[in-house]
Amino acid sequence: MKRVITSGRGFASMRICVIGAGYVGLATAVMFGKLGHRVACADVDNHRVREVNAGRAPFYEPPLEKELGRLVRSGALTASKNVIRSVADSKCTFICVQTPSLASGRIDVRPLKAACRTVAKALSRSEGYKLVAIRSTVIPSTTDTIVRQILEEGSGKSAGKDFGLCANPEFLQEGSALRDSMEPSRIVIGASDKRASDTLMKLYAPIKADRVRTDLRTAEMIKYASNAFLATKITYANEMANLCRRLGIDSEEVLGATGKDPRIGPLFLRPGLGFGGSCLPKDVKALRHMSRALGYPARLLSAVLDINDLQPLEALLLLNDALGSIKGKRIAVLGLSFKGGVDDVRETRAVILITELLAGGADVIAFDPMAMSSFIEIMPTISFASSIDEALTDSDACVIQADWAEFRKLGRKEFCRMRQPIVVDGRRCLDPERVEKDGARYFGIGYGHASEPDESLGGCKS
Ligand code: UDX
Ligand code: UDX
Repeated sequence: MKRVITSGRGFASMRICVIGAGYVGLATAVMFGKLGHRVACADVDNHRVREVNAGRAPFYEPPLEKELGRLVRSGALTASKNVIRSVADSKCTFICVQTPSLASGRIDVRPLKAACRTVAKALSRSEGYKLVAIRSTVIPSTTDTIVRQILEEGSGKSAGKDFGLCANPEFLQEGSALRDSMEPSRIVIGASDKRASDTLMKLYAPIKADRVRTDLRTAEMIKYASNAFLATKITYANEMANLCRRLGIDSEEVLGATGKDPRIGPLFLRPGLGFGGSCLPKDVKALRHMSRALGYPARLLSAVLDINDLQPLEALLLLNDALGSIKGKRIAVLGLSFKGGVDDVRETRAVILITELLAGGADVIAFDPMAMSSFIEIMPTISFASSIDEALTDSDACVIQADWAEFRKLGRKEFCRMRQPIVVDGRRCLDPERVEKDGARYFGIGYGHASEPDESLGGCKS
């Protein structure tokens, strides 16, 4: 008789394989591990496999790493380079490999194809029904064409009959990857057939969230529509903020009140130096590329990308306002990751910002609490400081590029190290009044008020 292992939570524990130990893959793996399943992570990268087996995440994500360590120690989660065996031993396989942008904006499906070829080999050697779910972000039709064809040809089996095929996009944010996986805003299940859809529904049964059951292409498009909207909303906030500043108005008040309309909502309306990261820029570019290929120009997406690339220049305008010219001035750039709290530098706006600062003749000194080693690989020739204090010492101004919690604590002690205490808040994460009380001049994206330090409280020399 077949033995059914139960998770102790009233449902059968399954063997699950997750291909790709990046943010998406590890969050997916830990989520299923926490739900009581046995998870095999498969990755072609030796270093990543070793890190995972040691209970370490290959990126900075403390809550995820803590749970990963617990699951590895209990034996519920293991990592391996042997993708074929990991897939063959599992009932469900989630493909979570990267889909980066090519120069044209189109996604590079080579890693996805490589993963599918391996899965196909495993399917050809396996008995019984298996499910393959694509969790990587892929352009509509990819699962039903490229993925299906490779799996069917390589395995000699049929999707919808011998194995199930799903498109199951994730919506997690870096910095809260595990929480967003365990408490998602919705679970989207696109499937080739009812059995595949039912299998995923069962797997997700313990998670409370609205379910959207649909076909493969619709599920893929939901992910792009969501990310394109988020990118557009941020860009709208940036455009309003840029306008407010030129009008002498504080955009925080304007956007705060705008977001109180339930039809608009307050989230993703924080102006800054533009959106970066592994998803928003790549997904908007891919959607625009697909759109153009269909003969539809997608002007809104083009505008979003153009405005986003110009947005870091707002910091230069603020610096020029404050300093007259940046030529020969020492500028401290605080925060190099694409947002605070993560060590990911993919598509970080810091690259555009620093390139422009250097072009303007500034002397740049950069600091980040966690992302320095990856940023050095992108811009090896600039100067790096080993602390906030070192970055600020003798600088003529600082620009906050990523909203790390430690930058929010900057005060009189730190400002007094600067040659000129001038703060350009590129992420609107500081309180202008407090900065001025602490003796520095405040310049912020979308902050339209003239700033003067509060001399009555005593300058740095007192
Ligand atoms: C990425 C994208 O950013 C996201 O949009 C997409 O939906 C999923 O992939 P992330 O998890 O951050 O997200 O990617 P990454 O850190 O690059 O991890 C992918 C992993 O897949 C790498 O460790 C890579 O070695 C592995 N991989 C890739 C395989 O194991 N097999 C392959 O054939 C290809
Ligand atoms: C994003 C999506 O939020 C997530 O749903 C998807 O699955 C992956 O892509 P993430 O890449 O972690 O997540 O970044 P996110 O927190 O969305 O921020 C993206 C960029 O927008 C960052 O550079 C951030 O600084 C910027 N941002 C975000 C703003 O400038 N203003 C805001 O109000 C919000």
